[in-house]
Amino acid sequence: MTQRRLIGYAFAIILGAASLPFAAAQSADYDFYKTRVQPIFLKHRPGHARCVVCHSGAGNGFSLQPLAAGTTDWTEEQSQRNYAVLSRLVAPGDPDSSPLLLHPLAPEAGGDPFHSGGRQFESRNDPDWQTLAAWVRQKPPVEYTNLKVLKGNSQLVGTMRSFNFALRSNCAFCHRPGDFASDANPMKTMARKMIEVAETLKTSLGDKNVTCYTCHRGEEIPRTAPVMRTAAP
Ligand code: HEC
Ligand code: HEC
Ligand code: HEC
Repeated sequence: MTQRRLIGYAFAIILGAASLPFAAAQSADYDFYKTRVQPIFLKHRPGHARCVVCHSGAGNGFSLQPLAAGTTDWTEEQSQRNYAVLSRLVAPGDPDSSPLLLHPLAPEAGGDPFHSGGRQFESRNDPDWQTLAAWVRQKPPVEYTNLKVLKGNSQLVGTMRSFNFALRSNCAFCHRPGDFASDANPMKTMARKMIEVAETLKTSLGDKNVTCYTCHRGEEIPRTAPVMRTAAP
């Protein structure tokens, strides 16, 4: 064996070893998801409709693969798709910025003010909520593939939640359900422009406190005039 080939092998081994922990972390994370997290979506929890009933093929951010007729669990391929979506509905390492944990949690326990599916978790002590939190805490970083203006934002999912609050929308107002990287929804392009609008305003006012909420105040299109009372006919 020539020296050059030896060096080549050594490099291959080093590179292999370097990429291995990440791949291993990803597959351990998937196993955790599949064996412990995903069953929660199918589970009959007393007093609650099951997540899968409303979220299978849903037109919001939490969109699960539809179960085939006559089946009670997802196929391996469907589980992987669900995993890809769910991995983007949480902030790795931070349960408190994760829509999956906060949206269905009772507001008194720090959850979002409103979920059409009700208070699925009355408290953070709920064992299923704890399992979701354990998953998020150990989750390795997710690789986002289509960031044009928010590259380097270390709190991407938290920023996305703030968009939801500012416009009182759900994730699918800007995203194609099931595919957060896609630009198919024109609202996403509009929102990219708006991020720049807000940045420009911050710079020109020298005010760091300009946010989407400054103009939107919980509405998809901000009011540009006061609402006038019309005289009774
Ligand atoms: C009775 C139907 C129903 C059930 C059951 C239900 N949800 Fe929902 N959920 C909805 C609807 C409708 C929306 C979209 C409107 C809204 O935000 O409330 C939603 C929104 C969400 C969102 C936010 C998605 C976004 O685009 O912002 C999350 C996260 C979520 N649900 C999690 C859950 C979890 C976890 C469960 C089970 C533990 C669950 N839901 C059970 C109806 C339901
Ligand atoms: C008002 C519009 C808007 C809402 C609502 C919104 N997003 Fe986004 N989202 C964007 C824009 C714009 C980008 C692209 C940012 C960029 O190009 O840097 C993005 C990018 C993302 C990405 C990165 C995808 C990739 O791989 O490139 C994820 C993940 C994401 N959003 C998740 C969410 C989640 C989860 C919600 C709901 C809690 C949400 N978004 C709500 C506008 C929105
Ligand atoms: C300076 C005020 C202002 C700020 C700040 C602002 N917006 Fe807007 N936004 C507007 C106005 C005005 C419109 C309506 C534009 C129109 O009618 O074409 C709008 C429209 C939008 C729309 C399209 C809604 C629709 O239904 O057509 C989206 C999406 C949006 N904004 C997202 C955001 C996001 C996300 C932020 C924060 C990053 C933000 N905006 C910050 C003023 C603002």
